[in-house]
Amino acid sequence: LITGITGFVGRHLTKRLLQDGVEVWGTTRGIYPNFNSNVHLIERFNFNLQSILEILNNIRPDHIYHLAGQSNVKNSWLNPFETFEANVLATIHLLEAVRLSEIAQKVKVLTVGSSEEYGRVQISEMPIKEDTELRPISPYGISKATISMLARQYRETYKINVVHVRPFNHIGPGQSLGFVTQDFAKQIVEIEKGLADPIIYVGNLDAKRDFIDVRDVVDAYIMIMTKSDICEYPGFIFNVCSAKPTQIKDILYLLIDLSSKQIDVKISQHKLRPIDVEIYVGSNELIRKVIGWEPKIPLDQSLQDIISEWRNRL
Ligand code: GDD
Repeated sequence: LITGITGFVGRHLTKRLLQDGVEVWGTTRGIYPNFNSNVHLIERFNFNLQSILEILNNIRPDHIYHLAGQSNVKNSWLNPFETFEANVLATIHLLEAVRLSEIAQKVKVLTVGSSEEYGRVQISEMPIKEDTELRPISPYGISKATISMLARQYRETYKINVVHVRPFNHIGPGQSLGFVTQDFAKQIVEIEKGLADPIIYVGNLDAKRDFIDVRDVVDAYIMIMTKSDICEYPGFIFNVCSAKPTQIKDILYLLIDLSSKQIDVKISQHKLRPIDVEIYVGSNELIRKVIGWEPKIPLDQSLQDIISEWRNRL
């Protein structure tokens, strides 16, 4: 069962699970008449305890990938209530439903956090390990840190098999606008096609982030969920990252270099945030060691695929 199945990560995860011959069910808030016909799609889903409990007792999933949520850091300042509702309250509904269900002791649940949980990390603490103190500075980061604490509580109090992941900046084809590679790539392709003047508007170019392809991220999720002895492992939180920092300025110029156009760059005030963590670089030592996962898709490939998708779309 995948919650939020029609989102960016949900679509990639679905594709991979179907390739592996897995029976996939998914919930979504909207209506998607053209979504994959091999999926049991539960549309217009009202994310509350009763509805989830009904689904769990009816379909009895082996694994739950809890992807539903508000994933945009910048929007979390504009609408903190919605962020906490979609991330924290929804997770409580889900975990309570699992606890009360007939499959409470059988099902394995993956909750999705973020590198934003770490927040203000000192340079001396890089690369960030899973046991680094959480000092989130965005409403989004706080909501995700809360999810990791809920996961711990349900594990410890009710012995529910919850694993929590902290993906860093995952990118790739199909991500919505409002995330940096998509915002840049769309503007570049609009310029290429003569739909816009040769100026790209950007936010903070100084930050450094740990970018990872979404297809590697979903591989990590599946490997974590299918590794049978993971529940016995005392740690239950895994960073999913490349362990390499890349400055946003470099992302911009790598994307511009994929185009033959001469493009000017302008900082747009409304793309800046009230506060932006300077650098995130994670350690992926734990997931390599315990799960045997490692990222495979290089950054250049992800950026190329993102630009190609926009060229086809526009
Ligand atoms: N979105 C966006 N658009 N960001 C820009 C832009 C722009 O035009 N210009 C510069 N940036 C900078 C942001 O200020 C930030 O420092 C960085 O690019 C990355 O921004 P996002 O792509 O919006 O990602 P994020 O780091 O805020 O959050 C993403 O990664 C988290 C994990 O680290 C999201 O995918 C989250 O859902 C995820 O948890």
